[in-house]
Amino acid sequence: MKKKASPPARSGRFAQAPAAAVTAFTESVSFDWRLWKQDLLGSMVHATMLSKLGVLTPAEHKAIVRGLEAIGRDIAAGRFTWRPELEDVHMNIEAELTRRVPAGAKLHTGRSRNDQVALDLRLWLREELAAQQAALRRLQTALVDLAERHVGVILPGYTHLQRAQPVSLAHHLLAYVEMFERDHARLGDCFARVNVCPLGAGALAGSTLPLDRELVARLLGFVDQQGRPRVCQNSMDAVSDRDFAVEFCAAAALIAVHLSRLAEDLVLWSSSEFGFIRLADAFTTGSSLMPQKRNPDVAELTRGKAGRVIGNLTALLTLLKGLPMTYNRDLQEDKERVFDTADTVRACVEVTAAMLGQVTVNATACAAAAADPALLATDLAEYLVRRGVPFRQAHHAVGLAVAAAEKAGKRLDQLSLAELQAIHCAFAGDVLEVFRPDRVLQRRELVGAPGPQQVRRQLARWRKVLKAATVKA
Ligand code: ARG
Repeated sequence: MKKKASPPARSGRFAQAPAAAVTAFTESVSFDWRLWKQDLLGSMVHATMLSKLGVLTPAEHKAIVRGLEAIGRDIAAGRFTWRPELEDVHMNIEAELTRRVPAGAKLHTGRSRNDQVALDLRLWLREELAAQQAALRRLQTALVDLAERHVGVILPGYTHLQRAQPVSLAHHLLAYVEMFERDHARLGDCFARVNVCPLGAGALAGSTLPLDRELVARLLGFVDQQGRPRVCQNSMDAVSDRDFAVEFCAAAALIAVHLSRLAEDLVLWSSSEFGFIRLADAFTTGSSLMPQKRNPDVAELTRGKAGRVIGNLTALLTLLKGLPMTYNRDLQEDKERVFDTADTVRACVEVTAAMLGQVTVNATACAAAAADPALLATDLAEYLVRRGVPFRQAHHAVGLAVAAAEKAGKRLDQLSLAELQAIHCAFAGDVLEVFRPDRVLQRRELVGAPGPQQVRRQLARWRKVLKAATVKA
């Protein structure tokens, strides 16, 4: 058995070891072990900078880097023993390094866990942001694929969950592509503020040693577009700032909210009441009691998990509210919120993309739902507008026509010209043109409207954007 390490943060000052319950209560290694790669990288670069300062000899520098690399191999292979009594990932790695390499005792020169943990979390988030963006691209691609496979499908668009006006399925799906595009951009904006190096801030007041913060920043890739190093400009802010984590959780919460709306559409559309789509067997589950059921659990869970992601954002904001300067142990609570947000949202994005890939569309059911001529009441009013009738009058006249049809037990397009003209004299012989199903969407070719040309143009635009994104990635 290995010799039990004494917690370095307690050496010297403390006569008594913490109670087991306190160790269990205060440890964070059970979750922050996930920062091990970032911690190793930060330490290697810090060691390089210390060797440039002359704090480490070249031999010590080399031994430390080798030692850290070996620890990395052990962790990756599952051979590393994490010790809760050493509190966190930082102390576990440093203690093990020092056990293997005596010069490890010099590594923490000019550094505190306060700037170290801020660094690790920023490094971790940098990678996570890129992974989230890539996942969003896959989801957008799945939406565009589905839209293209069913480009001719018409279905009702809804307001107040009441049938409103006909749109195309592709147009509806592309609305989500737009949302996820803004989410993608928000993650990019967040990256700019994550990508600033806190190292050198020390515990809160920097160091009396002439640390080269810019060298560290450059070596860790904390640079702007021109390659200039970006370091936190206030040591107190550097160790207490978690805005970047809040921003990530906020952007992620919005992704989760968008996903929950898409999930709700899929739940509704796959119900017997709508019957617009069928989810693949692989993405539905049965009931333990009712043999006929095919439940959209994957979509429902995606909808439900938005609650937890929003909760994480709220928890993080509440954690920071009223927190005195600078580092306080409360901040240890940030990591689980960030990790859970990242894991949950990424899983939701991936599973939704996969589910969309196997959706079957019932074009006939969609068309039947969109075929009610009442959905063209607005078009009928605009027909009158084109004939010089003020819109308010036209709206009123068509309202009367809808009521008359209802009363006569007819569809709106079954009223005779005489009946229409009795309501408004501007109705003429060409009025039935309004109801021609092949014209319904063709009339809507404004930018951003569901006309077939517009939708094809949008699909082509997204294809280009998404293709460029995959080439870049
Ligand atoms: N485990 C701590 C955290 O996650 C690391 C920083 C601890 N710093 C301290 N002064 N106790 O926040």
